[in-house]
This record gives sequence, structure tokens and C-alpha cells, in this order.
Amino acid sequence: PHPTLLAPSILAGDHANLRSSLKTIEDAALEWVHLDIMDGHFVPNLSFGPQTIKAMRPDSTLFFDVHLMLDNPHLYIDAFLDAGAQQITIHVEPDYPVADTLAYIKSKGCKCGVVLNPDTPAEDAKEFLSACDIVLLMTVQPGFGGQSFRHDVLPKIEQFDRWRKELGLDYRLEIDGGVDLETAPLCTQRGADTLVAGTAFFKATDPAAFIQSVTA
Ligand code: DX5
Ligand code: ZN
Repeated sequence: PHPTLLAPSILAGDHANLRSSLKTIEDAALEWVHLDIMDGHFVPNLSFGPQTIKAMRPDSTLFFDVHLMLDNPHLYIDAFLDAGAQQITIHVEPDYPVADTLAYIKSKGCKCGVVLNPDTPAEDAKEFLSACDIVLLMTVQPGFGGQSFRHDVLPKIEQFDRWRKELGLDYRLEIDGGVDLETAPLCTQRGADTLVAGTAFFKATDPAAFIQSVTA
């Protein structure tokens, strides 16, 4: 079992000064930063690319958790590895060689995992689980921060927690989208151990209280 950790999503940070947003995470004594990469095809939004991550890398000791919301993530793995990604998660919905891509990421010493959108059945990812260091479950439709948590995804958290036990696997179970003071416990009660938070962290009046509630 993994100790519960919070991975702030810098998508909700200051895009004119990402260095300051990284520092906000570090000053909160957190260890991960969640980096949302969007291509304007798989999701109807654009965020930033490998060049931006490469620029942030030298200044930060945070663990770079890179979430690729791309139609063709397999074409960009080298770019994100070169940029300093320490974990790369790829969606199961687009049509590309998911298993080969996971294996490639792993072969380069980088952690890897699959991501499922809210309406994607758990079964769509079962075949990849033995190759995953982490499974990321979206509790919002990807593309934007600040959306409401979709409670209908809660049973899927339980499913992946059950499979982890039944199959003797040790992947982290990460939840992403609308995670806040109220929804975080719903996730950890069901086995989630890694929580992404953009708005609830960067826009919080009292981030310390939120962090305390999640990691306690
Ligand atoms: C959405 C991203 C999420 C988002 C989370 O496409 O994958 O990581 O930034 O932001 P909040 O926590 O505000 O929902
Ligand atoms: Zn994300």
C-alpha cells in the first residue's frame, strides 16, 4: 500500500510564472507536481509542451507526473523523457499501441501508467495493469480544471482497488478532477492513494487545511 499523497496540478497555477507555482508546491512540503499536457485534439484545449517542462526541470526537485492528453502520445515519449518527466500516464481511449508505449516508457527508467476517462469502463484497462506503476482515473471529462467531481466514477475506484488486491499488483491509484476537501475522502475511502488537485490547491483560501485533510 502507498502512503496517500497530493499531486497539485499546475494547470491551475500561474501560467505567466510557473516557477512561482512550483515553489508554492515545494513550500507546502509536497513532492509531486501533476503536469497536464493537452493537444487540442484528444481534449478541446491546449496547455503546454515538453519545452516548458524542460525549462522547469533544473529548478525543481519535485516528482514530475506527466499526464498526456494526446491522441498520439507514443509519438512524444522521447520528448517528455528528454524534458525530465519521471512518470508518464497515457490514455487508453485513442487508437495507438498502448502496451508497447508503456513498455517503452518503462525501458527508459520512467514510471508509467494508463488513464481512463469518466465514461471508459474499467475493463478497457485490465490488460495493461501488470505493466503499470500507476492507474489514473479521471473524475472529470479532461480538458479543463475547475470542473465538478463526477461521483459516478466512485465504483471504478473500488474496482481498481479490488483488482490490485486480486491480481497481487502494486500500482498507485490516482484520481484527477474536482478533488477537494469534500471529494478527497470519498476517493481515499475506496482505495485511492494519489490525489491530483488543481483548483483545490492553487485557488484555495487555506491550502494548508486542504493538504492536511488529504495527507493526514
Ligand atoms: C483535466 C486535468 C486535471 C485538472 C485538475 O484535464 O487532467 O489534472 O487539471 O484540475 P481540478 O483539480 O481543478 O479539477
Ligand atoms: Zn491531469
